[in-house]
Amino acid sequence: MTLIKIGIIGNGSISESHLTAYQANPKVKLWAVCDLNEERARKTAEKYDIPHVYTDYHELLANKEVQAVSICTWNNTHAEISIAALKADKNVLCEKPLCKTVDEALTIEEAVQKTGKMLQVGYVRRHASNIAVLKKFIDAGDLGDIYFAKASMIRRLGNPGGWFADKERSGGGPLIDIGVHVIDLCWYLMGKPKVKSVSGNTYAKLGNRSNIESYDFYKAADYDATRNDVEDMANALVRFENGASLLVDVSFSLHAKQDSAQVNLYGTNGGAEVEPQLSIVTEQHNTIINIDPQITDPAFDFQGSFQNEINHFVDSCLGIIETNSPVQDGVEMIKILNAIYQSAAEGKEIQF
Ligand SMILES: NC(=O)c1ccc[n+]([C@@H]2O[C@H](COP(=O)([O-])OP(=O)(O)OC[C@H]3O[C@@H](n4cnc5c(N)ncnc54)[C@H](O)[C@@H]3O)[C@@H](O)[C@H]2O)c1
Repeated sequence: MTLIKIGIIGNGSISESHLTAYQANPKVKLWAVCDLNEERARKTAEKYDIPHVYTDYHELLANKEVQAVSICTWNNTHAEISIAALKADKNVLCEKPLCKTVDEALTIEEAVQKTGKMLQVGYVRRHASNIAVLKKFIDAGDLGDIYFAKASMIRRLGNPGGWFADKERSGGGPLIDIGVHVIDLCWYLMGKPKVKSVSGNTYAKLGNRSNIESYDFYKAADYDATRNDVEDMANALVRFENGASLLVDVSFSLHAKQDSAQVNLYGTNGGAEVEPQLSIVTEQHNTIINIDPQITDPAFDFQGSFQNEINHFVDSCLGIIETNSPVQDGVEMIKILNAIYQSAAEGKEIQF
């Protein structure tokens, strides 16, 4: 079997999950890495036995043997690297969020259409095994019409610092970083309804609280707490053309008693709660029933979901399946996220 040769651009924290998953996929050969930080790129190449090391992504893309790339860099580079990769005849797995702005998103979409290459957005939560189970129940109509959903990801202390806290490079704070996961998951499970309007609020009241001691949290590879110009928290109400609505709240920093996450869906025949583990609620014979699916991973399994995502990408590259996270889904999410920021800045609802 000919192996598909993969390049990894950006060798920081999340690239480890991509590398581990590619390494475990028998259809793949890890072929090239690239990072601005040469030592980081070299260490990655050594660890995973990767023959080609670059510090300039243009050079990696010029390597004709590389057939597909994972883009694991700062958000402000996703658009330019994705477009260059597509034009260099590579398929692309771009980490979430697709990019920062709607203009960038539309330009990436145009590049996908013009080149005929495939771009998958890194919506890893869509690939969780509990979501595959829930999707079967939803597709069979067990929830009925889903008319309300809640997407919440509250970190009481968890601003990753570095580029994540630099709006120029990240595009924003918890909304674009972690909100994107849960908003996308709700939207995907609701059947990707068309957005009608968005109303949002953002707050920057607490800062990154780098004064707090003895509390561990996710940090960027180049952690630096001195710079922070992103929101601490955001909330929003998204209305859809079909009458459904989605309530959002997310934070990097909040005086909350504990961290929490919610991906809840409520329909005419039943409901589902994905966090902390999959549970389905329905009614039978005038009785409310809570269903606890007996599956190996009823909760979000981080590396298992990355493995599923990478396997899905590889099979999409090979034409075996069609990706379930196409560029259009990245574009729509960037429209929603930016409308929330715009609504917060202007203090009014944004109509689509
Ligand atoms: N799917 C998830 O659950 C998940 C989790 C964390 C991060 N992410 C996403 O992954 C991306 C990277 O996040 P991270 O936590 O790994 O950050 P990180 O800071 O740990 O690593 C980013 C790396 O990219 C490198 N880089 C930046 N610009 C580059 C360029 N032009 N060329 C080559 N290398 C470049 C940096 O030097 C750094 O090593 C972000 O888009 C983030 O949103 C996704």
